[in-house]
Amino acid sequence: MMPKTVLVTGGAGYIGSHACVELLNAGYELSVLDNFSNSEPEMLTRVKQITNRSFKTFNADLRDEKALNDLFAASRIDAVIHFAALKAVGESVLHPLKYYETNVTGTINLLKAMQKADCCKIVFSSSATVYGLNNPSPYLEDYPLNAVNPYGSTKVMAERILLDLAASDPMWSIVLLRYFNPIGAHPSGLIGEKPSGIPNNIMPYITAVASGRLPELKIFGGDYQTADGTGVRDYIHVVDIAKGHLAALEYAFLHTGAEAFNLGTGKGTSVLELVHAFEKASGRSIPYKITSRRQGDLAAYYADTNKANLHLGWQAQHSLINMCKDAWRFEQLGHWL
Ligand code: NAD
Ligand code: WQD
Repeated sequence: MMPKTVLVTGGAGYIGSHACVELLNAGYELSVLDNFSNSEPEMLTRVKQITNRSFKTFNADLRDEKALNDLFAASRIDAVIHFAALKAVGESVLHPLKYYETNVTGTINLLKAMQKADCCKIVFSSSATVYGLNNPSPYLEDYPLNAVNPYGSTKVMAERILLDLAASDPMWSIVLLRYFNPIGAHPSGLIGEKPSGIPNNIMPYITAVASGRLPELKIFGGDYQTADGTGVRDYIHVVDIAKGHLAALEYAFLHTGAEAFNLGTGKGTSVLELVHAFEKASGRSIPYKITSRRQGDLAAYYADTNKANLHLGWQAQHSLINMCKDAWRFEQLGHWL
């Protein structure tokens, strides 16, 4: 059988690059679309180095309808994994139109180009942020969606558009993956999370403190109703997330319709527990100060993972210590190369 070709949008990014590794290792042919607005082409070179495989890269923007049509006209695409988006919550509050344009209009552009090319299988990067406030943990996929910032709204809207599309035409296969908190890096240390500027997310902040690029971690709130007072999240290894995409793709090849799945571990970890696990994994101490809460943060949430276990045959494998060890290896090696 001919290998299937998958278009990965945002394939040079943090999660996309790890998914590319898993797809290539599983024998898929790839095309990658990225405008490198939040990533470097070097990450794709490293994906090739890790897998010893090659693929086409399109330096193109989701907002450019012609570029998308040309891409689908130039090569046969069997399915799309759609990572490309803007993802900084704070920035989305300041620049909502930029977020709606890339994450919603960009997704519509992609879906229109797919429709024209008769390509009707897509795995979409959604987020646990779609559950918003007032839902008790563990989060279930059928909870009401209730985004509380423009970034979250773009994900709720894109999910809605995809559900309406599946309802309009039974040919579509749509998988919505709601990631919890991806951290860690590829065990090679070559690819990982490399945000530009001061990190918003906790793990790249911790690794920057561990290597001395930042002086100390500010822990946002020590007075939550949690075991040690700090915020609790469901941290999941990025390689487990990447493997979840393989499982979702296989599901999309076998099922039509639209289905949402949580990708998490099902376990909550507090900020202090994460800091202590990182100290153990790296042998470095992480100076920290407990400061006031960050606006918009929830105290605690984690995933119910039964639906993904049952229907995708997928389960996260990596421990918190592995996530920390791999994040630290990337900080020491890949971050600087
Ligand atoms: P990332 O920023 O590292 O990767 C996104 C990639 O998309 C980048 O390479 C960027 O250059 C590209 N891109 C952005 N705008 C584009 C455009 N207009 N045209 C073409 N390419 C464009 O982010 P990530 O952490 O890898 O996230 C991937 C996806 O997962 C996003 O959709 C994000 O919203 C979602 N997500 C991420 C997290 C997380 O914590 N990292 C959690 C939940 C959901
Ligand atoms: C984790 C915990 C913070 C930084 C965000 C998005 C979400 C999703 C994943 C895309 C919280 C605490 C953090 C710091 C800290 N992204 N923290 N000091 O906020 O759970 O989720 O990324 O979809 O939509 O909102 O992740 O890594 O920012 O924070 O104490 O310097 O670490 O308060 O408890 P978050 P995070």
